[in-house]
Amino acid sequence: MNKTKLIVDKDFRIGEVDKRIYGSFIEHLGRAVYTGIYQPGHPSADKYGFRQDVIQLVKELGVPIVRYPGGNFVSNFRWEDSVGPKEERRSRLDLAWRTYEPNEIGINEFSKWAKEAGTDIMMAVNLGTRGVTDALNLLEYCNLDTNSYYADLRKKHGDKDPYGIKLWCMGNEMDGPWQTGHKEAREYGHLAAETSKAMKTMDNSIETVVCGSSNVDMPTFGKWEAGVLDEAYDYVDYISLHQYWNNYADDTADFFAASDDLDYFINSVVAACDYVKATKHSHRNINLSFDEWNVWYHSTQQDDQDMRNMPWRSHPHLLEDIYNYEDAIVDALALIKFLQHADRVKVACLAQLVNVIAPIMTEENGPAWRQTIFYPFFLVSKYGRGVALHPVLSGGDHATSRHDHVSDVDAVSVYNEEEEQVAIFAVNRSVMETVEFEADLRGFEGYRPEKVLALEGTDMKAVNSAAEEKVKPVERTDARMDGGLLSLSLKPASFVTIVLKKETV
Ligand code: AHR
Repeated sequence: MNKTKLIVDKDFRIGEVDKRIYGSFIEHLGRAVYTGIYQPGHPSADKYGFRQDVIQLVKELGVPIVRYPGGNFVSNFRWEDSVGPKEERRSRLDLAWRTYEPNEIGINEFSKWAKEAGTDIMMAVNLGTRGVTDALNLLEYCNLDTNSYYADLRKKHGDKDPYGIKLWCMGNEMDGPWQTGHKEAREYGHLAAETSKAMKTMDNSIETVVCGSSNVDMPTFGKWEAGVLDEAYDYVDYISLHQYWNNYADDTADFFAASDDLDYFINSVVAACDYVKATKHSHRNINLSFDEWNVWYHSTQQDDQDMRNMPWRSHPHLLEDIYNYEDAIVDALALIKFLQHADRVKVACLAQLVNVIAPIMTEENGPAWRQTIFYPFFLVSKYGRGVALHPVLSGGDHATSRHDHVSDVDAVSVYNEEEEQVAIFAVNRSVMETVEFEADLRGFEGYRPEKVLALEGTDMKAVNSAAEEKVKPVERTDARMDGGLLSLSLKPASFVTIVLKKETV
């Protein structure tokens, strides 16, 4: 049987896990907002129209920050249309998704929703069709308590206290030709630098994220990062990464190797940041905001057709991927990768949160329910808080159609000193072989497995629905502990979360 060994040592620190890596994303797109988080008249809706069944599931996921309001949507968004008395709000055409935007929900409402859901907001400004002035106006409206026009306007709209939004995206995917107001790297970098500089002058408590490439396969990848940062390095705090994976080839083994491509992507962006850092003789790091990531492909063909043939609908069914078992394993692998890069990946947003490529789905005349991908996020978000430890892994590997050396197991551990807890997250990427997994817990005397939760399955295409959860974690009780060595067999194509706690005597 194949074997893999992991050394778990508290001195091998990667870095403190920034809780914002368990962020997510709500865009004005499809049914994310309307009939997603907001559906007045639904039996679970509160006085604001927010579905409490959805809020309950968001809380279960433990999402500390939600990116809003886009996405591609933001690049033609006029935020003033979405605040103030609802009867005066104007309906607009959203060019990104060819949809009517009624502006029933804007930042006044979303800030209330975020409070109810126990999450912070990561706000995006429009640098597609707009620029510095509008970004400043929005910041003043959201964050300032001054006696000035936009701060007063917020108060007039009923919100005396500022929203206190600390993290701001300088536009979205500005390298993409599909983006309204798409720009060249230096042009965008200059605009982002000036916008961020002005915004920080207005409110020096904020941090900003400059747009990196829309995905690792963009022809301008690498040059874009270097060009943008050459303009903006001194004025921003993070650079964004976006990536969506697919299994069009129906090749599960190779699909699981996507996390090696993700490793390459993260390392390359870190290298680009540090290259610009060197050229500027700077001593300050730019960190990574992986603010869109997920599997996305099940719905794309249908969506493209619908948008071509039936434009200008209201909250249409768009990007409603129904996720299967293997998608959940890929998401688990991505989360493991973010933890392995905890020193530089400080923000990550599962795209998205509700109905749109999402872990949470809603039935308009029924309940909210958990997709397969809900569970890896739930487990890692719940147990992956603390200090990420270097995974010293040795074991077998295998080849896939596009990757020569794919380690059978990818894993990482997180030490939570306060809770006296160590969590190990491990995926067996081999689709055929069981792997005998051993963790050497040196330096963690007295720690015993408290809980082992596993996503295991043989049907890679199994999906969940409102009626049935075919894919959910099962508890395993067969982990063995022998003199500081933990062993457990990992089934093919499975994900385990092993939670160890210090025994109390
Ligand atoms: O998340 C869906 C879309 O994917 C976002 O609007 C865009 O930023 C990305 O291309």
